[in-house]
Amino acid sequence: MKTVIIEKYAVIGNPIEHSKSPLIHGMFAQQVDDAMSYDTLLGDLDAFEDNITTFKQQGGKGLNVTVPFKEQAWELADELSDYAQRAGAVNTLCFRDDGTLYGANTDGVGLLHDLVVNYKLVLEGKRVLLLGAGGASKGVVQPLMEAHIKTLVIANRTPERATQLALDFADLGSIRGGSFNELRDQAPFDLIINATAASLHGIMPPIPESCLFEDSICYDLMYASRPTAFEYWCEDQGAALVLNGLGMLVEQAAASYEIWRGRMPLTTPVLESLQ
Ligand code: ATR
Repeated sequence: MKTVIIEKYAVIGNPIEHSKSPLIHGMFAQQVDDAMSYDTLLGDLDAFEDNITTFKQQGGKGLNVTVPFKEQAWELADELSDYAQRAGAVNTLCFRDDGTLYGANTDGVGLLHDLVVNYKLVLEGKRVLLLGAGGASKGVVQPLMEAHIKTLVIANRTPERATQLALDFADLGSIRGGSFNELRDQAPFDLIINATAASLHGIMPPIPESCLFEDSICYDLMYASRPTAFEYWCEDQGAALVLNGLGMLVEQAAASYEIWRGRMPLTTPVLESLQ
């Protein structure tokens, strides 16, 4: 009888118990009877590197990395994908057969796939507002610019972080950073992306109503079982379409799965099942 080796994967974060990643990867694996397991791993805030070493010693093949370890994963990787390199953050670790650790960032491509493929939105020539200048924002700037948007404005509670982020990616096109207040002087945006952690606290970033017009599309990178404060606000302002991060979650997972398993899973049935 042929022995089937179950290859071991997990998502590491802190907290981690509410992660949907095991469910998503379980569905991907089921599509082709892929012999893999995928669990949650509660990372130790003071011993992330030890957690990684132990997982590897136990035969682990790959990890998704989530808050607050993405920057530490970036530091640990021996080789980085282009997106991870510039984002300064890794959400996918791959333990290679030669012993090296490869780090990728699939968050941005996950967002772009959701916008462009799932929702069939045209980003070319659009004015985009990105709220927040933390790790989540860093992961999406490069793929957004590569979609040939007209201009990217980054607004943040701490304006200096937004200005710095804009400078870091200035070679990719028209990017400006500043405060929420400065948005008062701007024309409305075609796409507004909330990448702040404000939704976690039920807070809407204080942006002026003039940021929106009737064709604006709004996207909260966060996904919760109930609409976020950002989603409620955008609906109230009459946005054309208000989306949450569930599609991005599934698409970034699919891109990670492809890195590990060499096959792109089908995402539509997984999204439908989660919705
Ligand atoms: P992540 O990796 O999730 O992006 P982060 O690096 O801590 O986490 O960044 C969180 C982002 O959410 C930051 O842009 C933060 O603004 P500051 O740079 O001023 O800290 C933003 N943020 C967090 N809470 C917020 C709130 N209540 N209102 C507006 N922005 C908030």
